[in-house]
Amino acid sequence: MEKIVSLAKRRGFVFQSSEIYGGLGSVWDYGPLGVELKRNLTERWWRSMVSTREDIEGLDAAILMHPKVWEASGHVSGFTDPLVDCKQCKNRFREDDERIKGTPGEQDAQCPVCGSRGTLTVPRQFNLMFKTFMGPVAEDAAQIFLRPETAQGSYVNYLNVMQSSRQKIPFGIAQIGKAFRNEITPGNFVFRTREFEQMEMQFFVKPGTDEEWFDYWRDARMKWHTDLGINPDKLRFHPHGPNELAHYAKRAEDVQYEFPFGWQEFEGIHNRTDFDLSRHQEFSGKKLEYMEAATKERYLPYVIETAIGVGRLFLVALADAYTEESVEGEERVVLKLHPSVAPIKAGIFPLVKKDGMPEIAKNIVSDLQARFPVFYDDGGSIGRRYRRQDEAGTPFGITVDGETVENQTVTVRDRDTLKQERIGLDQLGSYMLERIQP
Ligand code: GAP
Repeated sequence: MEKIVSLAKRRGFVFQSSEIYGGLGSVWDYGPLGVELKRNLTERWWRSMVSTREDIEGLDAAILMHPKVWEASGHVSGFTDPLVDCKQCKNRFREDDERIKGTPGEQDAQCPVCGSRGTLTVPRQFNLMFKTFMGPVAEDAAQIFLRPETAQGSYVNYLNVMQSSRQKIPFGIAQIGKAFRNEITPGNFVFRTREFEQMEMQFFVKPGTDEEWFDYWRDARMKWHTDLGINPDKLRFHPHGPNELAHYAKRAEDVQYEFPFGWQEFEGIHNRTDFDLSRHQEFSGKKLEYMEAATKERYLPYVIETAIGVGRLFLVALADAYTEESVEGEERVVLKLHPSVAPIKAGIFPLVKKDGMPEIAKNIVSDLQARFPVFYDDGGSIGRRYRRQDEAGTPFGITVDGETVENQTVTVRDRDTLKQERIGLDQLGSYMLERIQP
């Protein structure tokens, strides 16, 4: 894990937020390569969920919502973690923190930080939503929340979306956006953070067809991950037992990845029944029922949700791609990212800085960069230039050499196989597009 974090920082994938001030705990900024990788992952998701489907519409709801939304959704009363405080050192822990010895609230309990005995309080519920105030007065009446999930924006807009886009059940609403949770134990780099991005899709179905749709989305999401090139041996489902199910769920399965710190969830598929729509109907007083045109049957749709964190998917992509290998006796670090999500698609290298090679290489750059990101590099030996792009996950290295000047061909080196092919300059664009498209 340390190697991945260090590569991420060194190569500009991820920086600590406000680093020059000492950083802000578990908050991260995505650097030049990171923002490209993240954008490519979200675009790939959007394409599969929205652009290539007729039964899913996109939405971008606001982060700030009416406070009643969170009462209806159950987050005000139920989105809590039990916490204990140490009265001696003032640190806070989750009740289930494995480092706590004994029973919090009793004399035998020992604080894992200062070691004092009998100073841990009995557990108290702590709400994970971030609070803020709307308007100039910081009073209870003006209190609102930063959304802890994007899903509620889709529920409160479900009639708007359905009617404006003339959809019928079954149909879905997809969103990509920020969510905030005041996590007590954030950590593992971008795995658990307090500010994060979600890609969530709510699929509205007729009650009774929900199990079938659950299975459909469960399989579709696993296929999406393997199509992205994620090692199937490191992917598995984890069905939730009765004690794990969220307050809204009838059935849930996590998609887990074997991270360097163990198997962990990075996506959830949930059968949320009509819980959210019925609560919003009750709290808003607005009818949210659907009427089947043919049969005039009325019902509140059930919702099958797929919910994935962008940061977690980003970490899956990085961890799965990170490879150390020996090439002709030399160690190399390479990110074997799927070409469709790689931040830079090709490195363009003049073999030497003379004989017209830099000029040809720069022409290639201006031709290709209109279609996808490429990187010009004429510094250092060709081997070093290849290595730099290997670490950035760049799938192709295009080298302009003596032959290019003579016959208008370049060598194209494949990042993973290291095979080199000679390609005509007039073929280069289509050769690349064929290989980097999803
Ligand atoms: N709308 C349902 C929902 O939010 P969740 O299982 O709480 O369900 C869905 O979250 C996904 O969001 C998780 O699988 C994870 O990828 C991501 N996620 C949740 N909390 C996170 C956090 N604190 N940091 C980073 N990602 C998080």
